Amino acid sequence: MKKLVKLFMALAALFIAVSPLSASAQRSLEDIQEDGKIIMATSADFPPFEWTIMEDGEAKIVGIDPDLAQKIADELGVELEIQDTSFESLVTQVQTGRADFAAAGMSYNPDRENVVSFSDIYYETTTSFVINNDNADQFTVQEDFNNAKIGVQKGTIQEELANDTFPDAEVVSMNKNGDLVEALKTGRIDAVMMDTIVVSEFVAQNEDEIQPVADLEIKLDDDGFAMITNKANEDLLAVINEVLNEALESGEVEEIIEKNIELNASGAEDTEEE
Ligand code: ARG
Repeated sequence: MKKLVKLFMALAALFIAVSPLSASAQRSLEDIQEDGKIIMATSADFPPFEWTIMEDGEAKIVGIDPDLAQKIADELGVELEIQDTSFESLVTQVQTGRADFAAAGMSYNPDRENVVSFSDIYYETTTSFVINNDNADQFTVQEDFNNAKIGVQKGTIQEELANDTFPDAEVVSMNKNGDLVEALKTGRIDAVMMDTIVVSEFVAQNEDEIQPVADLEIKLDDDGFAMITNKANEDLLAVINEVLNEALESGEVEEIIEKNIELNASGAEDTEEE
């Protein structure tokens, strides 16, 4: 692998020497290694993929994506720096080179692929609905949401999906998933549409107040989580794919998922005990 990295670096150097694209702000693999750190952008409101915990009095971003990103940084021999931002801005951050890559449970999507490059998919999922326990009788099938107030995170595929599927509904977009869940608990919205695994995590932590709609999931073509890089950084993308595929094949991705689901569950216990 180290050889491969060297080859990429040589190719990258050649590319920079001959390419007019070198004027773009994005950093090559060589720049990243020279700097000694790689910058990952995320939206840390999406357990078990990324969320914030307090460790020794300091906020720390943890989750499946940070764990996988750490493996990428290790492979490159650099430190990992995580920037927490709004989900909506991630594509632009990578496109303009403010971050080297983004890992945020981001679903592969052809529109996004017009402006950034996608890695291979490392997790497949569907979209689910979460509702307030008080309204469980009212919302049982998809049609029940036709005129509902549906919360979605800004810039997500769920935002588009909600608008397309429910043209007569009131789609309420917010920046952070935590705010959507709060709005659901207080009855300001009727439902939140989110990736299924994340619904499970939010429900597990708020069982007295919210629940998923049983047997209601929307599966999009090609839907699966992937990381994104700048279009001009194919060499970084190749390293990311190498690391992801190795971890998928060895079963490590599954272990990382399990570990983070447990970590999130233990965090919930801590808060309840306080
Ligand atoms: N999978 C959805 C999408 O790509 C939502 C991802 C939200 N991620 C996050 N870290 N908040 O649009």
